[in-house]
Amino acid sequence: MKVLVVGGGGREHALIRKIKESERVDSVACCPGNGGISYDAQCYNVSATDIDGVVHLAKEIKADFVVIAPDDPLVAGMVDALNEAGFKTFGPKANAAIIEGSKVFSKNLMLKYNIPTAQYRVFDNADDAVEYIRNKNEFPTVIKADGLALGKGVIIPESLEEAQAGVKEIMEDKVFGDSGNHIVIEEFLTGPEVSVLAFTDGKCVKPMVSSMDHKRALDGDRGLNTGGMGTVSPNPYYTDAVAKECMEKIFIPTIHAMNAEGRTFKGCLYFGLMITPKGPKVIEYNCRFGDPETQVVLPRLKTDIMDIFDAINNETLSELDIEWSDDACACVIMASGGYPKSYPKGIEIKGLENGQMHGVTVYHAGTSLDGDKLVTSGGRVLGVTALGSSLEKALEKSYCAVKKIEFDNAHYRRDIGKKALHAQKM
Ligand code: AMP
Ligand code: GLY
Repeated sequence: MKVLVVGGGGREHALIRKIKESERVDSVACCPGNGGISYDAQCYNVSATDIDGVVHLAKEIKADFVVIAPDDPLVAGMVDALNEAGFKTFGPKANAAIIEGSKVFSKNLMLKYNIPTAQYRVFDNADDAVEYIRNKNEFPTVIKADGLALGKGVIIPESLEEAQAGVKEIMEDKVFGDSGNHIVIEEFLTGPEVSVLAFTDGKCVKPMVSSMDHKRALDGDRGLNTGGMGTVSPNPYYTDAVAKECMEKIFIPTIHAMNAEGRTFKGCLYFGLMITPKGPKVIEYNCRFGDPETQVVLPRLKTDIMDIFDAINNETLSELDIEWSDDACACVIMASGGYPKSYPKGIEIKGLENGQMHGVTVYHAGTSLDGDKLVTSGGRVLGVTALGSSLEKALEKSYCAVKKIEFDNAHYRRDIGKKALHAQKM
């Protein structure tokens, strides 16, 4: 088989590595991919959001299967277009990807089907939104742009002034474009966060092993929100009891709800959960693999991923036994100095050989090749990932490798996994 992976970050690199393990796969292609990915897959210069371009490429290279990883092409209907052109795909159709594409949709879905989430109100007018926040007078509060916003569409104001500024930015200055035509204002929840990615064919749902993201830029969960600065798996807060409750109250009801709405979800559904004092609640749904969650979850997968993708297409997922390794996994993101704000590109990366280092797996998020030099080309540059018989050992391996990789102004958090290690001891 020839498999085409759409996207070009660390998540896609992790998918490609796992797909290449399949005995049924002869070659993997990627569009647009990146410098480091090009060691593992033939990369084509077609944007991940160019639906016509990707359909054309799939025809040209005679792809047998197309995996669509990022949110925007899924929400825009790339799977629908590829299926119409006769290709087998992994990923939800547009009418199901809306579960991530519109927060108004997902909040209304949870309310209608009694799936635990933060209380909320929807607004299409800035004055009404501010009036509501003023009357409620509870801070922090949470403001979310309705549509996709590169993971940055959430503001957590500590005061009315901050909230006013946030509402204005989203609804009037349109910093997230049309994503901000509607906003959700919701109750601020507390508790540890857990990411659970789940395979589903619309009939059954099979959660993968859990993980923990580290969204803030700086140690101690300070600084700006980022796409994620590191991950560990498993997440110690996701105990068997919590898993059982999530299955009963969140995972199965969500799959049923989507079916009942005529929006059957097939693919990877990402549950962003908060384990509140009142039980697990949904913070967000994503219609895709998480980044950098995938980088710590897929290395633990023992089952052939192509068998899983086929079972989802054939709606036979319930018959497939998916196996996971007991090892722990840690991924430390090395980012460009300045990320998530502006950062330089084109800086040489030293310490890797063919993009890799012995003993760890380096997933490339933002690199490109300049002749035979590997250089930075994005905010998140590398995800240095290791498996270990314990989380401590996995982290030790990752950090040991990180210290040997160099590029000017490289920035990484020194405390990935620290909270998880602490929770393990309790
Ligand atoms: P999201 O993009 O929806 O995942 O939100 C980004 C981050 O904002 C989450 O990972 C949480 O840390 C935080 N967040 C979102 N919604 C809430 C909420 N209702 N209460 C507290 N924190 C939240
Ligand atoms: N790491 C969070 C996400 O993929 O949305």
